[in-house]
Amino acid sequence: MSKKLYIKTWGCQMNVYDSQKMADVLATLGYQQIPEPDGADLMVLNTCHIREKATEKVFSDLGRLRPHKEAKAAEGQKALIAVAGCVAQAEGDVILQRAKYVDMVFGPQTYHLLPEMILNATGGVRVVNTDFPVESKFDHLPGEAQAQGPSAMLSVQEGCDKFCTFCVVPYTRGAEFSRPVRQVLDEALRMADSGAKEITLLGQNVNAYHGEGPNGETWDLAKLIAKIADIPSIQRIRYMTSHPKDMNDGLIAAHGAIEKLMPFLHLPLQSGSDRVLELMNRKHKVADYLDVIARTRKARPDIALSSDFIVGFPGETEDDHRQTVELVREVGYSSCYSFKYSPRPGTPGAAMGSIVPEAVKDTRLHELQAILFQQQHDYNKACVGKIVPVLLDRKGEKEGQLQGKSPWMQSVYVSAPERLFGEIMDITIERAFQNGMSGTVLQQETPSTAEKREAA
Ligand code: SAH
Ligand code: SF4
Ligand code: F3S
Repeated sequence: MSKKLYIKTWGCQMNVYDSQKMADVLATLGYQQIPEPDGADLMVLNTCHIREKATEKVFSDLGRLRPHKEAKAAEGQKALIAVAGCVAQAEGDVILQRAKYVDMVFGPQTYHLLPEMILNATGGVRVVNTDFPVESKFDHLPGEAQAQGPSAMLSVQEGCDKFCTFCVVPYTRGAEFSRPVRQVLDEALRMADSGAKEITLLGQNVNAYHGEGPNGETWDLAKLIAKIADIPSIQRIRYMTSHPKDMNDGLIAAHGAIEKLMPFLHLPLQSGSDRVLELMNRKHKVADYLDVIARTRKARPDIALSSDFIVGFPGETEDDHRQTVELVREVGYSSCYSFKYSPRPGTPGAAMGSIVPEAVKDTRLHELQAILFQQQHDYNKACVGKIVPVLLDRKGEKEGQLQGKSPWMQSVYVSAPERLFGEIMDITIERAFQNGMSGTVLQQETPSTAEKREAA
């Protein structure tokens, strides 16, 4: 008899990928995923600890799951509640203490052990597993995976050894680790076979990738991208997230040489002030970043740039903030994420003095975002009137609409029949918004029907 599985996911793309892998592992035990917790036999919260109130959000969601567990119990059945991901890793014991109805708590590196954990939890033993096992979870995943659709994500690297002073990732995800090339290529081929046209290579520091190649030699990310580009049905390749220090010459050159590598680079800088970068332990200067940007733009002149910024890190002065604002103006971004600094328990930043008052953080974030949003809007506006190839990988909000991404990672909305789902279509851009663009599908037939006609 099939059992029902509910998973809610927070955080980065790695967590989204992990949730899919958990579902794959659980499918081998007969679990089928459902979109709501109602009637679920297993409820998993896959959590993120990167910024404020992470733990509180988990507890309030746990409170919402509890009645579903009780409803099952009233029918004489046992439903399990699990907390996974980075909050589980960081606060496992606290969760078990505070929420007695939680059955399992496990970190991001242990979900290949789910069958055993479920067996224990079903037997009434509460499970906490926040180890960093020696064997990799990737070696124990089922070969069968659910298809991800036209745009698929593939984890190639995980963890981080950089220890930026604001960040929990090295503690929650563990040491940096690259999956072997063969394993990555096999997964890419499976994705292509099940209909993926785009693959996004994921990692907390994806451009630090150094996987073992088939003959024992080390492959870097550029080499891996080139190999994946050889898969005929894969038409688009992306990667994220990268660190400025790990942008090597080969990767920069790949942006010019590999047509399928999309012209978009998400390269977080965090601050435009060398003094703050040093306090953050980012291990590079603003000038190094600008040099990387200039060389990448030379290799691929139309590359769209994106970044992450943190305002109000301890010790950040008004002058430091001005430098961030100036840098943003100088570079010109197509889109960016920006955050108020949030002290994370156990990180060096949390113990630093010269705390920036919340009201000052608010003002700085507001000022920075006004510029970033304007840049994003302007970037989109510049596309109006142009014909842009869009991979239609999502249903739109309304009936008869599809949406997808331009090569430069902009969201594009169109009225289009469902048969165009999963196709890369030329779209004439008619309107631009801050968050995306809309337009009209140019050609009447899909690339695949055109191919068939030509072949006939
Ligand atoms: N590995 C990536 C980013 C990982 S976390 C890198 O090296 O940049 C994603 C983003 O969250 C970071 O780029 C940073 O901007 C933000 N972030 C991380 N910790 C934070 C904190 N304590 N407070 C506010 N923002 C934070
Ligand atoms: Fe966090 Fe820094 Fe590692 Fe990125 S490089 S994951 S910000 S510690
Ligand atoms: Fe969050 Fe963990 Fe990703 S803290 S951002 S889910 S690595």
